[in-house]
Amino acid sequence: MIAVTGATGNVGRALVERLVAADRPVRALTRDPQRAALPEPAEVVRLRPDDPAAMFEGATQLFLYVQAGGERTAALLRAARDAGVRHVVLLSSAIIREGADETHPIYVMHATVERQIRESGLDWTFLRPGAFATNALQWAPQIRAGNTVRGVFADALSAPIHEDDIAAVAERTLVDGGHEGAVHRLTGPEATTNADQVAAIGHALGRSLTYAEVPPEEAGPELFPHVPPHALAGLLKTYASTVGVPPEITDTVEKITGTQARTFARWAEDHASAFRA
Ligand SMILES: NC(=O)c1ccc[n+]([C@@H]2O[C@H](COP(=O)([O-])OP(=O)(O)OC[C@H]3O[C@@H](n4cnc5c(N)ncnc54)[C@H](OP(=O)(O)O)[C@@H]3O)[C@@H](O)[C@H]2O)c1
Repeated sequence: MIAVTGATGNVGRALVERLVAADRPVRALTRDPQRAALPEPAEVVRLRPDDPAAMFEGATQLFLYVQAGGERTAALLRAARDAGVRHVVLLSSAIIREGADETHPIYVMHATVERQIRESGLDWTFLRPGAFATNALQWAPQIRAGNTVRGVFADALSAPIHEDDIAAVAERTLVDGGHEGAVHRLTGPEATTNADQVAAIGHALGRSLTYAEVPPEEAGPELFPHVPPHALAGLLKTYASTVGVPPEITDTVEKITGTQARTFARWAEDHASAFRA
């Protein structure tokens, strides 16, 4: 049995769908099972970081999303181990790297959980993806309303990764074995700018969209609904450092899954409905 936290999220949902399709027993953990709308026969169970023991009964592996345990992650990992879980696959972040700013809130968040896992006595695999293609969903309200997208740093470069490519790697690391102690850095296959991404979404919709650059000092949380407010300043600094700078690109998705990572244009086609009014 594989327990999946963050199971209604971008990566967790794609992973649950994959495991169900592959006939793997899966338990999806969510704060609200009534609203989860996950495919059968996944077991859908309430996430209880304050009372984790029952969540892991019968599970041997865990896919962990960093916020799932909050401050109780160490206790959650202990409960998982005591219940018989042996291997945890963590959805971490590419921000964890040599020379990183170790005070960056997003670094601290992920590094803390990586350390707790190393200390937990469980086998582990860390997935460290770079920017998610799903970050483009931040533009959906503007694109549903018109043809201009306001955002920061039109020329910021990233190699956005499709959430289902992360899920595909997670599936292989959970199912195949042999990834214990491995750190996998995951990216999309090519660099794109913010302006390119908006154009690609326009292409998928059959519309011509324009990116209107907003100075970072004028960018408030309304432009970043997916970013915890306390992390916004740090993230704007990170984005500023990516203008015109080629991003890290790895071939890890292809190496592990046998299939090339999907492009942002492909992601935009897969998610066009999210941008339609
Ligand atoms: N966005 C990026 O570019 C990027 C890059 C690298 C790493 N990451 C990391 O990837 C993770 C995000 O993955 P994702 O996009 O798949 O997640 P997501 O879609 O944002 O959320 C995953 C699920 O977690 C649950 N959740 C949300 N907030 C929670 C909280 N405070 N406590 C407990 N559960 C909570 C929700 O499920 P329920 O409501 O069903 O409980 C949600 O559906 C984060 O740790 C992020 O730092 C992101």
